[in-house]
Parts: sequence; structure tokens; C-alpha cells
Amino acid sequence: MMPESLQLIIMGPPGSGKGTQSVALARDIGAEHISTGDLFRYHERSATPLGIQIQDFMKKGDLVPDDITIAMLKDKIASLADNVGYILDGFPRTLNQAISFDKMLTARDCRLDLVICIDVPGKQLEDRLLGRIVCMECSLVYGNHVDGEYTGYCNSCGGKLHKRVDDSDKEVIGYRLKKYEEFSFPIMDHYQEYGILHRIDGTGLVSEVTDAIKEVVATTFKGTLSFNY
Ligand code: AP5
Repeated sequence: MMPESLQLIIMGPPGSGKGTQSVALARDIGAEHISTGDLFRYHERSATPLGIQIQDFMKKGDLVPDDITIAMLKDKIASLADNVGYILDGFPRTLNQAISFDKMLTARDCRLDLVICIDVPGKQLEDRLLGRIVCMECSLVYGNHVDGEYTGYCNSCGGKLHKRVDDSDKEVIGYRLKKYEEFSFPIMDHYQEYGILHRIDGTGLVSEVTDAIKEVVATTFKGTLSFNY
């Protein structure tokens, strides 16, 4: 069970394991997982006006402009039932987004509890992204192997597995990593000032990183949070 209105951010460079870890943690503590990347990809797949507007940014590995991203996140949060806790994955990506999120929380009389940043060096990130396969339907992430026999379909929902368009090209991957370098430090400084930033070594096994994250979460919420596992 989780405390009401828990708000948590998992940040880190592309390929650091934000998605993998956010999905697992959200399941374990009963929170919503909100990935701005997954939301954008949903719009792209569904060819909504927003999807058409953002497809070039996504393909090139460029950040979608702040006004579009912030408006989409605001709508998503407004759609949640009152007092539902959530984990943000891939937001904020700019200091402006972080400040807008602060304002969003203040307007809802909420506060941000914790920011976890997963650190992984560049070469390892490139290898992970080149090897990643994802489900087109439920966005479940796989490494360069899929547990069990590889059938080309998701073990969880049966959706078709594919490579993301921004994972297919080393140049695009390099550009995404460069953008992260450029924009992430002011965000980390911002949350460091609030005293809620925790950096985690993301180079170990998925299960080791999960354990490290759970330890930080458990320490932060001392006795008010239990895991569903
Ligand atoms: P987004 O979807 O957020 O992509 P990203 O930040 O590039 O991050 P990734 O999804 O690539 O990686 P991840 O850290 O989630 O790693 P994962 O768990 O998959 O954004 C995509 C695009 O959308 C952006 O480029 C931008 O255009 C737009 N966008 C999104 N949000 C935006 C925002 N706020 N503002 C503006 N634009 C925005 O793991 C990667 C691989 O590694 C997997 O294969 C996994 O199995 C493997 N793996 C994970 N952990 C480990 C481990 N410990 N050891 C070995 N392998 C591991």
C-alpha cells in the first residue's frame, strides 16, 4: 500500500532503465506509471493531431517542445482519480518542465516526495538501446533477448514486438544522449536544492538496481509504505 498522493520521479539518460524500473516499482507499490515517451508514442501510433505534431521530434531524438509536453502531462494528471500516487518516467526533461511541474503540484496542494536518478555510462547506454525490443501495444521493454522462446510477440499482452525508430540509428542515439547531458544537470541541481534527489548506480543487474531503488523508497517513506511482493 502506498501513502496517499505519493509523487515520485525516476530520471536518467536514455537506456538507463527508467522504464524498466518504473514499471516494476509502480506495480510493487500500487502507483500509476506515467511515461511521457509512452504517451507520445501512443499518440503517434494512433495518428492523433498531437501524434502528427510530434513525430519528427521523436524520430530525430529531439525533445518535444515544453508547451506541448507540459500540456499533455497536465491533462494526464488531471485524468487520475484524486489521491492516486504516480511515478513519472521521462519527465521533466528541462528545467522549465521541472518548474512547471512544481507549480502544477502547488496548485493541487501536493508535493514531490522523491527524485531518483539512475546513472549509467554512455557506452553501456548505446549497447542497451541498440539491443532493446519493445511491445507496440503495452510498451513492455525487453533486452536483446526475450525470456522464453522468441516469437516476435509480447509474452505479456501478445502485441507485436519491434525496435523503436529512435533506437535504430547510432547517430540518433548519440544525439539523445547529448541532449540529456545538456539539459539534465540544472534539473538535478533544482531537486538537490530541495534535498529530494537520490542518485543510484544503474550498471548492475536489473534486480540489483530494483533493490537499490526500493531501499531508497523504503527509507524515504519509513514505515508508511509496503511493497506488494
Ligand atoms: P523516452 O521514451 O522517455 O525515452 P528515453 O529517455 O530516451 O529513455 P528510454 O525509454 O530510451 O530508456 P529507459 O531509461 O526507459 O530504459 P529502458 O528501461 O527502456 O522518450 C522518447 C522521446 O520522447 C524523446 O526522445 C523525446 O522526443 C520525447 N519525450 C519524452 N518525454 C519528453 C519530455 N518530458 N520532454 C520532451 N520530449 C520528451 O531500458 C533500456 C534497455 O536496457 C532495455 O532493453 C532494457 O531491457 C535494458 N536494461 C534496463 N536496465 C538494465 C540493466 N540494469 N542491465 C542491463 N540491461 C538493462
